[in-house]
Order: sequence, then C-alpha cells, then structure tokens
Amino acid sequence: RVAAVIEEVERSLATPTALLRSIADAMVTEMERGLRGDIHAQLKMLISYVDNLPTGDEHGLFYALDLGGTNFRVLRVQLGGREKRVVKQQYEEVSIPPHLMVGTSMELFDFIAAALAKFVDTEGEDFHLPEGRQRELGFTFSFPVNQTSISSGTLIKWTKGFSINGAVGEDVVSELSRAMERQGLDMKVTALVNDTVGTLAGGRYNDNDVVAAVILGTGTNAAYVEHANAIPKWTGLLPKSGNMVSARTPYTWKTKVYATIVINTEWGSFKSDKLPLSEYDKIMDFESLNPGEQIYEKMISGMYLGEIVRRILLKLAHDASLFGDVVPPKLEQPFVLRTPDMSAMHHDSSHDLKILGSKLKDIVGIADTSLEVRYITRHICDLVAERGARLAAAGIYSILKKIGRDKVPNGESKMPRTVVALDGGLYEHYKKFSSCVEATLTDLLGEEASSSVVAKLANDGSGIGAALLAASHSQYAEVD
Ligand code: BG6
Ligand code: GLC
Repeated sequence: RVAAVIEEVERSLATPTALLRSIADAMVTEMERGLRGDIHAQLKMLISYVDNLPTGDEHGLFYALDLGGTNFRVLRVQLGGREKRVVKQQYEEVSIPPHLMVGTSMELFDFIAAALAKFVDTEGEDFHLPEGRQRELGFTFSFPVNQTSISSGTLIKWTKGFSINGAVGEDVVSELSRAMERQGLDMKVTALVNDTVGTLAGGRYNDNDVVAAVILGTGTNAAYVEHANAIPKWTGLLPKSGNMVSARTPYTWKTKVYATIVINTEWGSFKSDKLPLSEYDKIMDFESLNPGEQIYEKMISGMYLGEIVRRILLKLAHDASLFGDVVPPKLEQPFVLRTPDMSAMHHDSSHDLKILGSKLKDIVGIADTSLEVRYITRHICDLVAERGARLAAAGIYSILKKIGRDKVPNGESKMPRTVVALDGGLYEHYKKFSSCVEATLTDLLGEEASSSVVAKLANDGSGIGAALLAASHSQYAEVD
C-alpha cells in the first residue's frame, strides 16, 4: 500500500524536461498578455517606474524598509559615490507578530513605523545628513502593487499569509507616511519597490550584467529589464520608438541601445493546466487564505513546501498506516511542518537519518520511527523540493526566453554574459533546492547558452536596492 501511494505521488509531481519547456512557453505567452494590459492575463507584468537602475554614483544617507518576507527589516546606508560606494551600512531585523498579518492596516503600519523611528534614533556619527534636509526612504513592499509613480501605488491583493482588511486599493506609501507622522518621524518615501525590483537594483549596483532578479523565499516572484517598446500598455513618458538612448542604464542588444523599464512579473499568480497540480496542492489551495490564487507560488515557495510534504505524509498515515495504526494527531495540523525543517530532514545524510528521526519525532510524536519510514519521508521531501525547484527554473528560463537570452543569437559566436540575481531564504538556505534550480536551468538552456548565464545570490539585495533607488529618486537629486 505504501508503495502504491508513493508511486501515485511520484506520478503526480513529475516534471519531465519537455513539460518544463511547455510551461516556460506558456509563461512567455502570459507575459506578453500582461504587457499588453489584458485584464485576464495571469502575469500582471507591473510597471515599476524604475527606468534608471543604480549606476554607482549614488551618494548620501538613505534609509530602506523591507516588508513582506519572513522578517521585516530596516536599513540605513551611507553611499559614497563611485569611489567609495557603500561607506557604511547598518540594519535591524524584526519579526512581524503573526496577529498583525491578519489585523488592521493601521496596526501593521504603526508597528513598522515605530520600529523605523526607533532605528532612526540610533543613527550614529558615521552617518551624515546635510543640514536642513529631510531623511529619505526606499520602501520595499513585497506584494503586488499598481504603481502610479516611483513613489506611490495601490495594493492589488495580499499574498503569503497576509490578509488585512481595508488595505487593498489603498496607497501603501500614504499609509506608511501617515504612520510615520503619528510616530513624529520626519521622513519622505522617495521610492516604492517590490522586493524583486529592489534585488534587481541591488544586483545591478554590484554587477552590470544583471538583467533579472528572482525571489525564492516565503513567496516567489521575478522582475526583469524590458524594452520600453515591448510594453504596449505603457502610456507614460518613456519613448516607445525603441531607438532612444537610455543614457544611464543602457541595455544593449547587438549595436542598438533601447530605453528600458523594470517589470515586476508577479509570476506567483501563474496557473496553467500544464502545471503538475496534485490532489495535495488542490486541497491546500482550497483551504488557504487565497483559494484559486498564487498557484505557481504555492507549488514552489517556502511558505508551502513543508505543508505539501505534511499532506503527503498524512495521506500515507491514513491510507497506508505509515506511522502505525493511529494517525499522529499533530500531523493533522496545517503548517506544522515548516520548510526549514523539511530542508533539515532532506539534507540528513547520516546512515541512520538521525536528524530526520528527531524532526519526525517533533512533528508526529513518534520517537522511534523505523529507518524505512525515515527513508520514505526523505524521499517525499526530495520529490516536493525537486518539483518546486524545477518549476522555478522553468520560470527563470521563460524570462531569459522573453528577453532573448536563452540562446546564442544568429550570426554571433557567444551570448552576452547574463546574470540573474537571486534572493530569499529558500534559495539561500535550502541547498538541495538551489542546486536543483541551477542544474535544471543549465539543462533547459543547453551547454552553450548556459555557459554565459550566471545565477548569483544577492543576499539582502533588495534592502540596499531600495536605498539606492531612493537615492536616485531623491528630492535633492537635482541640487546634487
Ligand atoms: C530578502 C529581501 O533578502 O529576501 C526581501 O531583502 C525579500 O525583500 C526576502 O522579501 C525574501 O525572503 P524570505 O525568505 O524572508 O521570504
Ligand atoms: C509574493 C508577492 C510578490 C513578492 C513575492 C516574493 O509573490 O506577491 O510581490 O515579490 O511574494 O516575496
């Protein structure tokens, strides 16, 4: 019976390379629909208003606030221009009390503004703000936002376990600014960015060949640099002719230089009948805070992987008595198995799977699970992580396809060096996951193209990226 359930799980989670290729093609089609402004497009392809990525010339004191991952962070950085770069930086991490994730908007914003005010109070002499100037902030808000300018935008929906009444449709910068006022904090938000956009900016500051950024953390998403003339829905001031020179962030393709703009794909909301959606995914989705939404994210990201494993183990317990005659009651609890624990179990390579055994003891309350049960559990972790990682690689491949960096161009001998900045706890800490992402991407790209593509960890790139964008959009930029 156990073998039969496992076989069924293996079948339903399988991601053969040909399937990944067709998923990538479907994603490209959805990206194009999103760029056209089709309201039914699954990828919203949000315009970030970032048309100037950091150059290295940014200077001055800037703050950043990062909301939407596991923790909320505040950061300050003294930028010293091209020569000195980051002179000094400090940050603090605060975990968000779970009740605030489902409370009121005012409570959440008051909490973050209070933490920011406290942090500002500790600013030391290494940081310097010219006389008479207001402090400025880059706000990384890692949820889908309809931007109305670089420093304003309304929340489209909550994702990743946040669900706060009355915030959808509101301008998040106004909400933050009002909360800062209530704290007596005089600070101006000069850039509002998604974490992917922040990571792209931070990545570009360190490496000029960064063209896309991907978050694999609590949630998943990607941003990339798009030609302005490939965005039919863009009606703003950027030239659409496709032959304007964007002097500060040239994006060269062959000999031409196009104006570019950063697009936040919000790929987490992708769904397709091509996705290998199992019964476990379907029930998890049905019981989630946002049923029917973020399907791709729910198959890949850190918030959900452990939960999928738990659901499969529960099925094995019910249908095949994996843990004996009684189904462990704790295993019935949603989200009791967290992805970091899944990762620890998956990485256990000791002969008796001791770490896995002790994790399992915490989760199912059985101290002496047999070696066979432990091997089965590890195998389930492997299946779920591998599916997530391979799907994420298909997503990265689809972006490279979209921008023509998936193969050596006709008539050329080599593809330009192409860097994808990656961040998020899942990618950083779950090594088997990240190595599978990289191996699958290499497989999809083939030997020649993959030799020019680099996946680079950009740890906390989004905080510094937001500060850099706050600097380039500073109200004093003209004066300086
Ligand atoms: C951080 C970025 O490093 O990664 C955040 O600065 C981002 O902006 C986060 O949201 C995602 O990681 P996680 O794993 O905490 O969701
Ligand atoms: C979710 C959010 C998205 C964010 C991602 C990674 O998918 O909707 O905005 O970028 O998580 O944090």
